[in-house]
Amino acid sequence: MHKLIELPTDKPAAYAELETGLRALLAGEHDLIANAANLAALLYWSLPELNWVGLYLVEPVRGDLLLGPFQGKPACVRIPVGRGVCGTAAARRETVVVPDVHAFPGHIACDSASHSEIVVPVLRGDRLIGVLDLDSPVPARFDGDDAAGLERVVKVFVESLNG
Ligand code: SME
Repeated sequence: MHKLIELPTDKPAAYAELETGLRALLAGEHDLIANAANLAALLYWSLPELNWVGLYLVEPVRGDLLLGPFQGKPACVRIPVGRGVCGTAAARRETVVVPDVHAFPGHIACDSASHSEIVVPVLRGDRLIGVLDLDSPVPARFDGDDAAGLERVVKVFVESLNG
């Protein structure tokens, strides 16, 4: 698959480049949906071994996580906080790395190709506004370097929302 950005194989270096790329991509725009859409597309088309990247955004009426901009196959629409990997990351307000989704109690299967997953909470100040979810067909695709790198990428995204 053709990659949008040719990233170095060293993960911290790759995420540093992604951060710079994202800053440039989002510059001058503060809209949540537009910037979430470009965040998902940049990650999906630049990072290797992914089958789904997207955001679930906190829906203010019921407080559920509601499907937002994504790349990949159609996905489940509404996830209560506390359920699945996404809901767990939202409830804990911390990044959750799952090496084998089949071994995660309560995992919500959207694409049967998914084998491992990482979910990063998106916090705007003290307020949880959503989660960033990445799925991979490769077991144990994500590690601490991905968690640290994606948390920095999410920070750039949140900063872009300040108009
Ligand atoms: N697997 C996630 C649901 C979202 S899909 O992976 C796109 C979960 O357990 O929360």
